[in-house]
Amino acid sequence: MNDSNTPIIIGCDHAAYPLKEKVKDYLIGKGIDVEDVGTNSEKSVDYPDFGKKVASMVSNGNFKRGILICGTGIGMSMVANKFSHVRAALCTEPFSAEMSRRHNDSNILVMGGRMTGETLALEIVRVWLETPFDGGRHQARLKKFDTIDS
Ligand code: RB5
Repeated sequence: MNDSNTPIIIGCDHAAYPLKEKVKDYLIGKGIDVEDVGTNSEKSVDYPDFGKKVASMVSNGNFKRGILICGTGIGMSMVANKFSHVRAALCTEPFSAEMSRRHNDSNILVMGGRMTGETLALEIVRVWLETPFDGGRHQARLKKFDTIDS
């Protein structure tokens, strides 16, 4: 299904605040509703607090898609993927973003504000938004996530 215009919940830590603002402006410019949970400055904060705000809202179905950005993207990925029904993909280039949608039906895009420049990040976001899930055998594989007991 192509849900490229679905509302997006977005969050970041201090290390990614400038990039989060650019991504938010880009989404708004495309006519997409954006829920920004912060942070809203470069004052030091703890990324798990903001990862939790976004991932919990995707996990409970209040938002179909979210975007998280920290310095490397690693910490936000770790936090987000602790939530059931969240499939967070850390992407540093557009091909990963495309495949995370086609094969993994990723519902949270994660990027690193200290890793990825604005132009590349916005292209990653564009591809991630516009690429539908392939379904089929990939849907069957995702169903197996529910049987994994941690
Ligand atoms: C903050 O300094 C940094 O640790 C954080 O943004 C992120 O990169 C963690 O994974």
